[in-house]
This record gives sequence, C-alpha cells and structure tokens, in this order.
Amino acid sequence: MKTLLVTGGAGFIGGNFVLQAIADGLRVVNLDKLTYAGNPETLATLREHPGHVFVHGDIGDRTLVERLLREHRPDAIVNFAAESHVDRSIDGPAEFVQTNVVGTLALLETARDYWRALEGPAREDFRFLHVSTDEVYGSLGDEGMFREDTPYAPNSPYSASKAASDHLVRAFHHTYGLPVLTTNCSNNYGPYQFPEKLVPLVLHKALAGEALPVYGDGRNVRDWLFVGDHCAAIRRVLESGRVGETYNVGGHAERENLTVVKTLCALLDARQPLADGRPREQLITFVKDRPGHDRRYAIDAGKIRRELDWTPSESFDSGMQRTVDWYLDHQAWVRHVLDGSYRMQRLGEGAHA
Ligand code: NAD
Ligand code: DAU
Repeated sequence: MKTLLVTGGAGFIGGNFVLQAIADGLRVVNLDKLTYAGNPETLATLREHPGHVFVHGDIGDRTLVERLLREHRPDAIVNFAAESHVDRSIDGPAEFVQTNVVGTLALLETARDYWRALEGPAREDFRFLHVSTDEVYGSLGDEGMFREDTPYAPNSPYSASKAASDHLVRAFHHTYGLPVLTTNCSNNYGPYQFPEKLVPLVLHKALAGEALPVYGDGRNVRDWLFVGDHCAAIRRVLESGRVGETYNVGGHAERENLTVVKTLCALLDARQPLADGRPREQLITFVKDRPGHDRRYAIDAGKIRRELDWTPSESFDSGMQRTVDWYLDHQAWVRHVLDGSYRMQRLGEGAHA
C-alpha cells in the first residue's frame, strides 16, 4: 500500500484530496498548520481511520518533517500547504512569503535529504508533487490560453509567492535531481471551500439574503474546475507524470464573475426561494475593484489530456449544482468554520495599495 505525506490536507483542495486518497486505499500522513483555512471537521469521517495520520505542524519545521519522513517512509510528498487567498495577500504579503516560499524551501530540502538516503526502487519511484496555480502566468486579454511554456508574470503577492515556490521546485530537480512534478491549476470550487472565496462567499450571503459583492465591473474571467476533478488530475500526474515536467489543469469552463454569481443565485432560488420571492440576482452589488485584479485566466489543458488521458468529469453546470446541494446540506460545517475572526468582511481593498 502506498503512503503519501500530504501537506495542507485540512484545507479545501488538500482535504478533498485526502478523502479521495483514503477512499482509494492509500495511507496518508497529513501535515497541516491549521491556519484559519485548515478545518479538522473536513476530516471528521477519518477520525478513527487506520490509514490516516493527522499531524498538526508547519511545513517549515524541518525537525518535525524529518521525523515524519523517517517514521512513515512515504512514497511521495504532495504539497498543498499554502496561504491561498489573493485578497489576504494584498493586506499582508509577508505570511505568503513565509509559508509559500520559505516553508516550501524547507520542505524541499528535507525531502531531498530523505530521497538521497533511499535506495533501489524506493529511490527511483519517489516523487515530490507541488500543487500550484495558473495565476503565476499573469493576466490574459480577450484571446489566448495559458500553456506550460507561457512565461511567468505573477501580478499579486500571492501569485508571486507561488511563482517563487514553483521556481524552487524546478531548481531542486535541475540542481539536485529531486524527482519533482508541478501542477498549475485554474479556479477550484466544490465542497469544503472556506467561505472567503467567490463561490462559497456568494452562496453564504445569498442564502441569508445579503448583498453579493462583485468586484469592479464583474467581467473578469476565471476558468472553473470542480475540486474532485483537480484531485483526480493530481493523482494521475503523481502516478504517470514525467519527472521534472509541469502540467496545466483546467476545466475549459471560462465564465465571467457575473455569470458565476447569477448561476449560483438561480440555483439557490430554485431550491430555497427567498421569503419575499425576490430573485437573488437583485442582491448583486458592484463594489470597489481588487487592486491589480487580473482580467482573464484560461487554461490549455491539452498536455495532461494527451499525455495522461485526464479530462474533467464535471461540467460547469453539473459541478455548480453539486456544490450548491453540498452547501445546503452542510450548513453546520459552514457555521463552524466561521467561528473565528473572519466574518465575511471585505478583504484586500488595498488601504495600503
Ligand atoms: P486553503 O487555503 O483552503 O488550504 C491551505 C491549507 O494549508 C490549510 O489547511 C492551512 O492550514 C494549511 N497551511 C497553511 N500554511 C501552512 C504551513 N506553513 N504548514 C502546513 N500547513 C499549512 O487552500 P486551497 O484552496 O485548498 O489550495 C491548496 C493549494 O492549491 C495551494 O497551494 C494553492 O496555491 C493551490 N491552488 C488553489 C486553487 C484554488 O482555486 N483554490 C487553484 C489552484 C491551485
Ligand atoms: O486561479 C487559481 C486561483 O483561484 C488560486 O490559485 C487561488 O488560491 C484561489 O483563491 C483563486 O484565486 P481568485 O482570486 O481567482 O479567487 P477568488 O474566489 O478570490 O475570486 C474569484 C473572482 O471573483 C476574482 O476575479 C475576484 C472576484 N471576487 C471575489 C470575491 C471574494 C468578487 O467579485 N467578489 C468577491 O467577494
């Protein structure tokens, strides 16, 4: 049975990945710092599971990571751990550099030393998979798509920190031979997403009949991918990806933000109309734009389709329906993760920008 060291596995994508991996019979050592975005409740069904070991800690803690590697002898490391929200990176970039750059560097060094001491097939088969974002490529105009050879041009402190970590991962392959893989994915949505991101934030506010904040003119475009499809892509890359390569992952589901918000409103209206019968679209409120707001992202996912036979199984419509149904069925999860300091207030308005 394969063992994975997963970092950030109490977060949105990492949590979905861990649930999927355990269901498929893998062993997972799950290292997570439990920041505001890490929620053990996501992993509640694994509490007694012998295949899941949860460890509360930081990817930058070399002593801890070295001990985990020695004790559990993982076949691969999958690095999800990161500060992930663009708006928060505008308010406070330092934490993004600390975890995404300094933390990833520490993890790479510890992984390299562990891998060097392995022998035979264990050494040959070991992989370090780094989970990254399409935001490293910057912003597109009306035409074109991001490919794996698109030059990096990150525009936010978040994407700059992810770009730096991608470069370190690449350098560890070229300099030390560490068998790395990198995935660059578009916008994910689905179960267990912390309600600071557009989809769960709109769902939460729309359910309560509150104003739905749309930045700028609402015409910015993102390429939306259901989280389960992203997790399946990562597994495919882990199993069959070529060492040292990067793979773009996307849904071929480009939508303007306004379309996303209106879709969510219509799905909620059909399931749980507002008491006064008003269509929720009327709650849309245009607010001050995000500083440096990237206009358009679109992924050319041709390489992962051709080489690894991966395509998404959910369409934009089916994935959004599943997501809305999940949020309606898991209101307790949403309430509990909102217990902390975050009250869905506007972030990243750029007071210092
Ligand atoms: P998230 O914010 O929901 O979760 C991040 C997790 O990492 C949390 O559980 C947090 O506690 C943990 N963490 C943070 N700092 C840590 C540290 N120093 N040590 C250990 N754990 C730490 O993020 P997400 O949306 O699930 O994103 C996961 C990864 O995927 C990130 O690397 C992100 O850049 C990338 N990504 C996200 C998207 C998206 O749409 N959400 C798209 C492409 C790529
Ligand atoms: O593209 C991949 C990236 O997608 C990931 O790397 C990031 O971790 C993830 O957070 C996401 O980044 P975005 O900035 O695109 O996601 P967010 O949900 O914050 O915003 C999506 C779009 O919606 C963006 O154009 C900003 C807009 N928006 C967002 C919020 C929170 C609004 O109009 N109103 C809002 O309240």
